[in-house]
Amino acid sequence: MKAVVYDASNGKNTPNYQDIPDIHPKQNEVKIKLKVAGLNRRDLFLIGGSHKEYKSFVLGSDGAGIITEVGKNLDEKLINQKVIINPTLNWEKPNEIPMVLNIVGGPTNGTLAEYIVISYKNIVKKPDFLNWNEAGTLSLSAMTAYRALFTRGNLQSGQTVLIPGIGGGVGTFALRFAKAIGAKVIATSRNKKTLEKALSLGADKVLNSNDYWSKEIKLNTVDIILDSIGPATFAKYFDIIKPNGKIISFGATSGGCIDLPLRNIFFPQISLVGTSMASTQEFNQMLDFIERYNIKPIVDKIYNLDNIYEALEDLRSGIRFGKIGISISN
Ligand SMILES: NC(=O)c1ccc[n+]([C@@H]2O[C@H](COP(=O)([O-])OP(=O)(O)OC[C@H]3O[C@@H](n4cnc5c(N)ncnc54)[C@H](OP(=O)(O)O)[C@@H]3O)[C@@H](O)[C@H]2O)c1
Repeated sequence: MKAVVYDASNGKNTPNYQDIPDIHPKQNEVKIKLKVAGLNRRDLFLIGGSHKEYKSFVLGSDGAGIITEVGKNLDEKLINQKVIINPTLNWEKPNEIPMVLNIVGGPTNGTLAEYIVISYKNIVKKPDFLNWNEAGTLSLSAMTAYRALFTRGNLQSGQTVLIPGIGGGVGTFALRFAKAIGAKVIATSRNKKTLEKALSLGADKVLNSNDYWSKEIKLNTVDIILDSIGPATFAKYFDIIKPNGKIISFGATSGGCIDLPLRNIFFPQISLVGTSMASTQEFNQMLDFIERYNIKPIVDKIYNLDNIYEALEDLRSGIRFGKIGISISN
């Protein structure tokens, strides 16, 4: 079968679109014919990093498809069921955070392939209200946004959340999740068109990521900041956050280290809170939530699997709003 394989041990920073041997499910596993997979910035970080310990693996964390085969102990009635993959591998409950969070698509084989074999525990029935493109690009970004806002941020109706870099997958979910519960959203981007799209999706205010935000919004305006950009925007958060506010950190797009002005943390009693992905329990809560509020992924572009190099390049350099999907089979 065709797959996008990254071999970390060969020292090259490019994956290979290649044939790999066919696979069959063992006990408690199912084999899924993938319809659509989703790209995430994580794929680029994996390709860019030197994860020699991972050896060779199929990239891709998001995906949806149809079960074609089940392990000996599973009910054959599962065959033909339409499913979405939950990419978190070993984390059941929100507060029982694993020492090492294992994710589908590095170190285990991922979704950028014609088939995946995965534990039965990592699949859920595809909700009918999502089409294949939406189901295949949903999981990683939506579950991350859900835990960041609600479990870690405890966002409440009437509070204000700032989402820097609104065009990314997590940002576009977070905007609609926050609006669904009656929170206010201030969104930032370096791109005017992205800001216009954010407004059309319900953002209450938009700001250019590179401007001085304190000129446009008052000090003490924001309860929660959802940061994934890091050093490029971090210093500005202290100009606008309320006392007792929270900065929720889940990414490091512009770099891995910041200068932290400690007085700006302890005098206004700001909480700096880390978060990553979400547990299986939160994944299921997120699915209920999007169904209740009819929130669907915004799919910006769809590429075919054999155009994976172009799709990854688009993810690296392009201006987008929402997710990039990879169509694998009809
Ligand atoms: N910890 C986790 O579990 C987890 C899960 C998902 C994602 N993440 C991380 O979260 C981050 C966001 O991922 P994503 O896939 O949602 O979105 P993304 O495609 O990485 O983009 C997010 C936005 O960041 C903005 N941006 C990038 N570089 C910037 C810079 N130097 N200055 C200002 N803005 C900049 C861009 O906005 P404009 O171009 O519009 O300005 C972009 O639309 C990534 O770092 C990803 O690795 C972490």
